[in-house]
Amino acid sequence: MAQKVIIDCDPGIDDALALVFAHGDPGLDVCGITTVAGNVDLDKTTANALRVRDFIGMGDVPVVPGSAVPLLRPGLDAREIHGNTGLAGARLPAALSGPAPGHAVDYLIETISAAPGEITLVAVGPLTNIALAVRREPALTSLVRDFVIMGGSAGRGNRTPAAEFNILADPESAAIVFSAGWTVTMIGLDVTLQARVTAAVRDRMRGLGRLADDLLLPSLAGYRTNEPAGSGPAGSGPAGSGAAGSGAAGSGAAGSGAAGSGAAGSGAAGPGGGRPAAELGRPDDLADPAVHDVCAVARVTRPDLISCVPALVQVETAGRLTSGMTVTDFAAPAAQHNAMVGAGIDVDAFWDLVLSAYQRVAAGMASQ
Ligand code: BDR
Ligand code: CA
Repeated sequence: MAQKVIIDCDPGIDDALALVFAHGDPGLDVCGITTVAGNVDLDKTTANALRVRDFIGMGDVPVVPGSAVPLLRPGLDAREIHGNTGLAGARLPAALSGPAPGHAVDYLIETISAAPGEITLVAVGPLTNIALAVRREPALTSLVRDFVIMGGSAGRGNRTPAAEFNILADPESAAIVFSAGWTVTMIGLDVTLQARVTAAVRDRMRGLGRLADDLLLPSLAGYRTNEPAGSGPAGSGPAGSGAAGSGAAGSGAAGSGAAGSGAAGSGAAGPGGGRPAAELGRPDDLADPAVHDVCAVARVTRPDLISCVPALVQVETAGRLTSGMTVTDFAAPAAQHNAMVGAGIDVDAFWDLVLSAYQRVAAGMASQ
């Protein structure tokens, strides 16, 4: 039976691609979408979720707006990556209907509580809604089937040398979420920078009709990644341990100092495809973007494709230069582990999976 998921997101180009994937994957049943301010403001992330939902024919899956600002800090957006609309390049018609009534935090608590142990929560934006939900209803942590995020990094960041965007945008919420008493499956940059949209992947998208012509390809063309091709943390920690699988993942964790060796900045120049350090992080590098959020959803439906390593993850909230860093200790005693940290990904199998889901969505759109 398909796994029920709620996707908490801030569309966002890769969020949109993750929603399309979730809709097309037969192993997933999207029961709700909640939105949060992140890549762009809440009105836009909500409007974008609605437009994507209606464009791909997801029916009446509720889109429930949530938090418009981080818990304590002013908002931080990523318009330079996703464009002013949040879906730069995409050509989507207006949504057919508006958001569902109510607030995402209430929706999450009510929906997950009504189906204990059945719903996997996937959060691919800043963690504001999730922090508020677990504060209001601490039992949520045992009511979910599983909890998976796209966010963080055991090595370097992307928005700063230390921090990944989703965590940096609301570090206090992330700190609450990581210390809430559940196991967070953290699909961070260690994984997501390995699975890039190469020219070959884009070629495989061609021929998917309106889905490709109006959403996938133009938004990927408009997606100004700030992670240069080849900047994956290979060799800097468990992500570099290679293919998904328990052997590779385990070896990364085995006291090899994996977390420390991937410290911000250190992993980038070496494994960056031989590129000079000065080129890394250039916002105008458009080659082969990473579709971060799709990886988190893929982990739900095909956990075998993305290996994870147990660890203690703590979020830096006070650092002058390191705010939002997910300090990942693979050597912490097992009793302290609060996360399964994504390490390796079988990239070819990932794209086979994602592209067949896209094919299913495209076929559904063609028959409408
Ligand atoms: C994350 O930040 C956002 O810009 C993306 O949508 C993704 O969730 C990657 O760091
Ligand atoms: Ca996102």
